[in-house]
Amino acid sequence: MGRKLLLDKAHIEGIRYYDTYRSNGGYAAAEKALKTMGPEAVVEEVKKSGLRGRGGAGFPTGLKWSFIAKPEGVPRYLVCNADESEPGTFKDRYLMEFIPHLLIEGLLISSFALGANSAYIYIRGEYAWIPDILEQAIAEAKNKGWLGKNIQGTGFDLEIYVQRGAGAYICGEETALLESLEGKRGNPRIKPPFPAVKGLWGCPTVVNNVETIAAVVPIVNIGGDEYIKFGIGKSTGTKLISACGNINKPGVYEIEMNISVEEFIYSDEYCGGIKGGKRLKACIPGGSSVPVLPANLLLKTAKGETRMMTYESLNDGGFATGSMLGSGGFIVMDEDQCIVRNTLTFARFYHHESCGQCSPCREGTGWMKKVLHNIEYGKGKMSDIDLLWDIQRKIEGNTICPLGDAAAWPVAAAIRHFRDEFEWHVKHPDEALTRNFGLAHY
Ligand code: NAI
Ligand code: SF4
Repeated sequence: MGRKLLLDKAHIEGIRYYDTYRSNGGYAAAEKALKTMGPEAVVEEVKKSGLRGRGGAGFPTGLKWSFIAKPEGVPRYLVCNADESEPGTFKDRYLMEFIPHLLIEGLLISSFALGANSAYIYIRGEYAWIPDILEQAIAEAKNKGWLGKNIQGTGFDLEIYVQRGAGAYICGEETALLESLEGKRGNPRIKPPFPAVKGLWGCPTVVNNVETIAAVVPIVNIGGDEYIKFGIGKSTGTKLISACGNINKPGVYEIEMNISVEEFIYSDEYCGGIKGGKRLKACIPGGSSVPVLPANLLLKTAKGETRMMTYESLNDGGFATGSMLGSGGFIVMDEDQCIVRNTLTFARFYHHESCGQCSPCREGTGWMKKVLHNIEYGKGKMSDIDLLWDIQRKIEGNTICPLGDAAAWPVAAAIRHFRDEFEWHVKHPDEALTRNFGLAHY
């Protein structure tokens, strides 16, 4: 059994509530951080742990914290990005729903480390029932002296506010989120300046994902040196993976970052294999924004090495033969799935969610959607495949925020690895919608 650091107590009845959380070791890390460590030591421990941002980008958390500007008399903010909207990703929801005090405790320790006296949880609008759970946990923590003024007599003050989003995917992009939090339309800002220098209301702000903030609790509890033993290389600690698609056991799993992709898919501890005994065709390992991998490149890298559930291994070979761990949204496809149809589904999504500020994204996503629609619905030409390739190339790297890249990469990977399927659609316009796709990608 893999060891757990975040969800080890999630099964305990009543863990959602303060008394049970506290009697099972909750707030011990906060006590240690506030009473015996001090802010700099917490930052050092997080740096030592090698914790990388769990929202998708994998940026080193300790480094991000150390970038925060500290001008005299200017407030600093911590913003928790709970706008989990990446298709295939639902791990933060699980954490907030079942063990909300872990997030509150993480926010307390992280705010203390950063010198922030206000923290915000910006939560996805569709998670309609979770703000009440968070508000209750905040009220309980405040009642027990873990929030508010002079926390546990240490002189540190913190208030946590919950803000609901209104259903826009783009508000998960950190600067769009900040705009939205300020009450404006959620349009991404040009970076730099990064939020660590100029963030919420122009003040230094750290934006961290829910899982990243929660991971600070075990790091303080066991120390950075112990934390790195849960992973390999620069992929330290544990990672929450939300697994879905054609598998026997969809759900949220906490893995040590030292297991293989094959073990994750086929072992009974995790996905339990492909549903109905079918063959594995492909997988998007890190949420819809990352490239799809055919089965032969998913289990082994192009060099023939075992593909591991780590940042480095999943990216081995770059996007030519690799992908990304991203947000851990693990979408498995069996032999019956149609790659063209899947790619069209994602293209529709990105077109709908584009904020429209930059033309390559605004126009390009719509154009890709139309061309993919034609191919899928039997109205495509062979030249459309090259046209699609061309459009995605013109989007990538030419936009304000990563949504443009996120829309381009899945299209590029689908054509790169499954070009024969696109061609088949063009050659068989009458059958394209009804055929299952086994093909030769094993
Ligand atoms: P990014 O790589 O631009 O930034 C990562 C973080 O590091 C940001 O907080 C940024 O402010 C900070 N940073 C980077 N360089 C810095 C510097 N020089 N100084 C100070 N701070 C610096 O990536 P971004 O835009 O934060 O995230 C993109 C990823 O998000 C995608 O790869 C995708 O996997 C993921 N994503 C996740 C979603 C979810 O629902 N969890 C939804 C959509 C995308
Ligand atoms: Fe908006 Fe797309 Fe430009 Fe991002 S890339 S700022 S979503 S138009």
